[in-house]
Amino acid sequence: MAQLWGGRFTKATDQLVYDFNASITFDKRMIFQDICGSMAHVRMLAKQGILTGEDRDAIITGLAGIYRDVTDGKLTITTEYEDVHSFCEAVLTERIGDAGKRLHTGRSRNDQVALDMRLYVRGQIAETDTCLTEVLTTLQDLMEKNVHTVMPGFTHLQKAQPLTLAHHLGTYFEMFRRDRERLADCKKRLNLCPLGAGALAGTTYPLDREYTATLLGFDGATRNSMDSVSDRDYLLEYLFILSVIAMHLSRFSEEIILWNSNEYRFVEIDDTYSTGSSIMPQKKNPDIAELLRGKTGRVYGSLMGLLTTMKGLPLAYNKDMQEDKEQAFDAMDTVNGCLKLFDGMLSSMKFNETRMRESASAGFTNATDAADYLVGKGIPFRDAHRYVGEMVLACIEKGCGLEDLTLEEFKAICPATEEDIYPAISLETCVDKRLTKGAPGPEAMAEELRSGSEYLKAVPPLSDPLTGLWESLSRTGD
Ligand code: ARG
Repeated sequence: MAQLWGGRFTKATDQLVYDFNASITFDKRMIFQDICGSMAHVRMLAKQGILTGEDRDAIITGLAGIYRDVTDGKLTITTEYEDVHSFCEAVLTERIGDAGKRLHTGRSRNDQVALDMRLYVRGQIAETDTCLTEVLTTLQDLMEKNVHTVMPGFTHLQKAQPLTLAHHLGTYFEMFRRDRERLADCKKRLNLCPLGAGALAGTTYPLDREYTATLLGFDGATRNSMDSVSDRDYLLEYLFILSVIAMHLSRFSEEIILWNSNEYRFVEIDDTYSTGSSIMPQKKNPDIAELLRGKTGRVYGSLMGLLTTMKGLPLAYNKDMQEDKEQAFDAMDTVNGCLKLFDGMLSSMKFNETRMRESASAGFTNATDAADYLVGKGIPFRDAHRYVGEMVLACIEKGCGLEDLTLEEFKAICPATEEDIYPAISLETCVDKRLTKGAPGPEAMAEELRSGSEYLKAVPPLSDPLTGLWESLSRTGD
């Protein structure tokens, strides 16, 4: 047990209590963020004359060494320490002596952990954004290839109107594009530095909080010091975004599972993304798509878990807030992993154009167009709707499609019908004439594709600013 406190205690902590209280097993993943934060802190302390340049350089060199040794596997982060913050400070002091004990001047673990978490989430947001961009690029590519791939569109899982694969995929393009916008928006509120808020009420040292913020790539320092240490809204926002992404992936996976079924056969998931059965030799199961759908539950769970943890907390820091980590880390790992898997599954999947077209031509998907045709002959839409309903009934009795009725049969139901009904209700017409903005017709689709490709060029994925700052944070001198 190596603790950062103990002066006012007369008895040692019970081992069970120690383990219950400790967070090192899961917060050790923030070591890079913790060390960068400490480097920025001592740079600022030295600039303000609170620490000597000599101490600053000893601390920075010591911290860089710790980070190097941990990544090289020469130094192990063990449960002997309460959390990642204690680990760094204790090892530093062991290595460099008294200067190490000066690191925590004007700082509390409360603002330190608030900082580490913001830095960590900022990096994860960039990771999610990169994964989303890859999925969007795959979608854009598939859409460009499938502007003329006709398939049925569904409502209530019943065939509704014909559309194209490009148009169907375009729906998911919009969803993931909005997810990226949400991430960028979340980053704006997150990107303020809480360091210097102290335990809750700031500090009497003349800290330059804006300077620390700049060193760490933040847009500025947070305002109210109590809010700085007790705010986890940015994390909740991120968990909400992850939940929405998981929901989008789940809807898409659900469709892929249906499309891949023996009944639909619209797609075939590649062997590399399928699994077999231990008993039924013929089976090729969409387990990966099912897991992508199933993982959604735990991501929602993380969001609900943290919302519930936060709901009754008085100001400012309470240890309950340590519970922000495990579930949130799980949600980030889950969604970022799912996005990568999903991208691989989507880009290796085969689309069966013939089956999609066959399916679109059955099931009266051209019924709306038949009604619109009658409207063109001067019949009010409500009457046209009824006529076509009767035509569909006649087809069901005859066991054929609308386009298979003879002109006499059409005329017997609605005398205004002419020979030109046949081209008017062909699948091509049904799709190609749908040219309102956002519709599946080829010109409308071309516009959508243009906007998609411009968007992908104009908005590159977010990156983690901290990676690029290591150089300037870890050097010695001013
Ligand atoms: N492990 C703690 C957390 O994750 C660090 C902050 C501890 N602060 C304290 N006052 N006990 O929240």
